[in-house]
Amino acid sequence: MVIAYTTWLLPYLLAVAALIRIILRLQSPLAKLPGPRYTALTSLILKYHEFTHRRTLYIHHLHQKYGPVVRLAPNEVSFSTADALKEIYMSGGSGYDKTEFYSLFTQFKTRTLFSTLPRADHSYMKRYMADRYANTSIMKPEVLDGVASHAKDFLNKCLEGCAGADGYADIYVYLHCFALDGVTHQLFHPYGTHANRDEKDFRLMKELSYHDSLKSNFALYYMPWASDIIHYLSPPKPAPLSNDYVLKSSAGSSPSPFSLLSKLQAQAKATSMPPRYVPAECKDHLAAGVDTTGDALCFLMYQLSLSTSESERIQGLLRKELAENPSTPFDQLPYLDAVVKEGLRCFPPIPMSTPRYVPSGGSTIEGCFIPGGTIVSCQAYTVQKDPKVFPQPLDFQPERWLDAQGEVERNRWFFAFGVGGRGCLGRHLAIAEMKLLLREVYSQCRTKVSDHMHSDMEMEDQIIASRPKGQCCKLVFEKIV
Ligand code: HEM
Repeated sequence: MVIAYTTWLLPYLLAVAALIRIILRLQSPLAKLPGPRYTALTSLILKYHEFTHRRTLYIHHLHQKYGPVVRLAPNEVSFSTADALKEIYMSGGSGYDKTEFYSLFTQFKTRTLFSTLPRADHSYMKRYMADRYANTSIMKPEVLDGVASHAKDFLNKCLEGCAGADGYADIYVYLHCFALDGVTHQLFHPYGTHANRDEKDFRLMKELSYHDSLKSNFALYYMPWASDIIHYLSPPKPAPLSNDYVLKSSAGSSPSPFSLLSKLQAQAKATSMPPRYVPAECKDHLAAGVDTTGDALCFLMYQLSLSTSESERIQGLLRKELAENPSTPFDQLPYLDAVVKEGLRCFPPIPMSTPRYVPSGGSTIEGCFIPGGTIVSCQAYTVQKDPKVFPQPLDFQPERWLDAQGEVERNRWFFAFGVGGRGCLGRHLAIAEMKLLLREVYSQCRTKVSDHMHSDMEMEDQIIASRPKGQCCKLVFEKIV
């Protein structure tokens, strides 16, 4: 009798609960913010765009339509100004706390610098490893010589490909090898990889860079309670080669003093770190440094190689600067610097929102009161395409970075590496890798897009980064010296 009564009542109770939820959402301060009406009631449309790899462009279009503040979902807001960057990512040094989204990035079931959520824990970890990535450390010959030698391997591989029957090189592949070699040099030397020379390391790069785990990752994020079913339906991507490599290298004896490993091993000895911590942190930096640097260079070299008069002009100016200054250090070449910055502005490899929680008590961002617990973010793709700061934002124009007028403002809106205490730790390494590789290539070669290139170079969202959709970029390298 009681069961029958409850069964009859249940739909009504659910309807009342849904109605209360709708009323509460419509009364929230977020309901008054600009954005499509449906976003005040549901996050389903946002999720649809996430699961179909289109979150970044969807949000970009919303900003174009609604302005610098856009409600994305009942509890989520996106901003697109330098002032919002400052508040969300820099207030108090490290900005607001990261959301549980970053729990997707634990390694060996251990939280790392990137996936640690509270600010205080993060600051402690960062203090003991930051010096390995400081510009003064990266500029040491033992780091730069290693990266420069990997850049030579890259060019040799490309020239070999172009001399073969195909007549082109797939730079997507070789750039990811280069990025793997560059970051493992810094992490593990002398246990770094040589993926452009060694077949075993090449397979390691393939395991790291060719996968698509976006849907299962988002499913885990939204439904952590269903993790068993999700893992059953979509088993986690096995990574035997990279796990094995990281575990073995992390236990290696006498790593070079400049490496991250030497610092982590010393720290582990001096404190009571869990045994998995050293490999977990190293695996995290490996993951952070391969696709980002590889994709950034791939988008950039493709742009430089297009058969348009503008790309030919820019490539020509770059070659001229490199030819006229063969012994100038790579960090003192203004045009090279402008090309790299413009590449990262137009094609940021992490173009997507980097979400944070508004602290309890709420805060005011861009003049809007946002309640505590709301998820807020900015995305580099949109911030770096603001036409007031970057006129003709879709055009690739390195010269804009050479103009002293507006320089401070442009730098304030540059968000490719994030900003504040949780910005990119590997920034100086990434810039050095990019510049050394471009100098190696463009001081000796002209590059063009191959006639065989039919792959899609559109940016495709992954879980946080984005990559060229076709994962293939065929270029022709012509030696000119
Ligand atoms: C062009 C290449 C790169 C780009 C554009 C890039 C971009 C970024 C961005 C935007 C963040 C902040 C993400 C967030 O807040 O969610 C970040 C964090 C991080 N990056 Fe990079 N990155 C690059 C290369 C590297 C390299 C080579 C490493 C080296 C090991 C690295 C290590 C890290 C680490 C450890 C963090 C976490 C920092 C923290 O939470 O304190 N990145 N990166």
